[in-house]
Amino acid sequence: MILPGAPWLIAHKSMLKVNKPKLFTICGQDYVLWKNEKGEISALENICPHMGAKLSDGWICPETNTIACPFHALEFDSEGRAILPNEKISKPLAKQLKLFLQGDFIWTYANQEPKLTIPDILEKLSTQFRFIGVAGDVTIKAPFIDALEINHDVNHAKGTHRELFRIKETKVDDFQDDGYFSVSTIKHFREKNTFQEYLENIALLFTPNEVELILENYFPSLVVVYSDSPLGKLVQVFTIYPQNKNTTRIFIPLFTEKSFGIFNSILEPPTIKATEEIIRQDVAMLENLYPRFEPKIRLSHEEPLHWVRQLYYNW
Ligand code: FES
Ligand SMILES: [Fe+2]
Repeated sequence: MILPGAPWLIAHKSMLKVNKPKLFTICGQDYVLWKNEKGEISALENICPHMGAKLSDGWICPETNTIACPFHALEFDSEGRAILPNEKISKPLAKQLKLFLQGDFIWTYANQEPKLTIPDILEKLSTQFRFIGVAGDVTIKAPFIDALEINHDVNHAKGTHRELFRIKETKVDDFQDDGYFSVSTIKHFREKNTFQEYLENIALLFTPNEVELILENYFPSLVVVYSDSPLGKLVQVFTIYPQNKNTTRIFIPLFTEKSFGIFNSILEPPTIKATEEIIRQDVAMLENLYPRFEPKIRLSHEEPLHWVRQLYYNW
């Protein structure tokens, strides 16, 4: 098991459709989650206790808030009890996944004994900023440690993300380490983009040549990135959790500072799309690496990277 007892952010409620079962794989276990009209979330192990069908392929019965198995249509309530004829109810047969809700954000310890408290940063962000949506929610075919490292690797902006931002130099201006939490201040220095690039990506017009980012690192699941954008401050919450041994899930809830009224619907989709492009570039790199080994050379500005490696290997 990867980092047993770590809190994992697995979804924002908007990622679940009403009365549609959704499969979640976390720490090697499959679960099914569903949301009813009231916004209440239920979560069970995905394996049907009858003959092992995938409950996530079944359907929700809204009147009873139960999930019906696709194999023999047996229904289970949110506590995992089977609904039997004559309104009888069994004892719990399908195990529940214990969830911890923070507003619309869904956390879990994957049914392990908690070892770290759930950070309250999303609660804070939700009061100070405006939630605009989620980018990504994709599976990376790479072990968790690889995804964890790239989220703390400032130098990869020069390679992995070079096409979009043309970063010629990047540095960690400051790094404050406070146990399982740390803060990095990062500067990227960009080359000038071509006229063609500006035409293709209007957002570049608003991206200064020197970009300062503040990164709040909440080990092991979140990196909260604060940057300035034409929409005012932009907050991207890089979120990862382990699915199986060699797959990792990534998604990025986004917040902005200001509201532009009716223009929000024009300004927000490109912001989400740009973030999705960043994910695509990371995924392409991570899925194309040779298996990990002890690096034979150390670069400057790897403080956040070594911070996260050391916490991971000493868990
Ligand atoms: S396998 Fe689920 S009801 Fe039979
Ligand atoms: Fe990246």
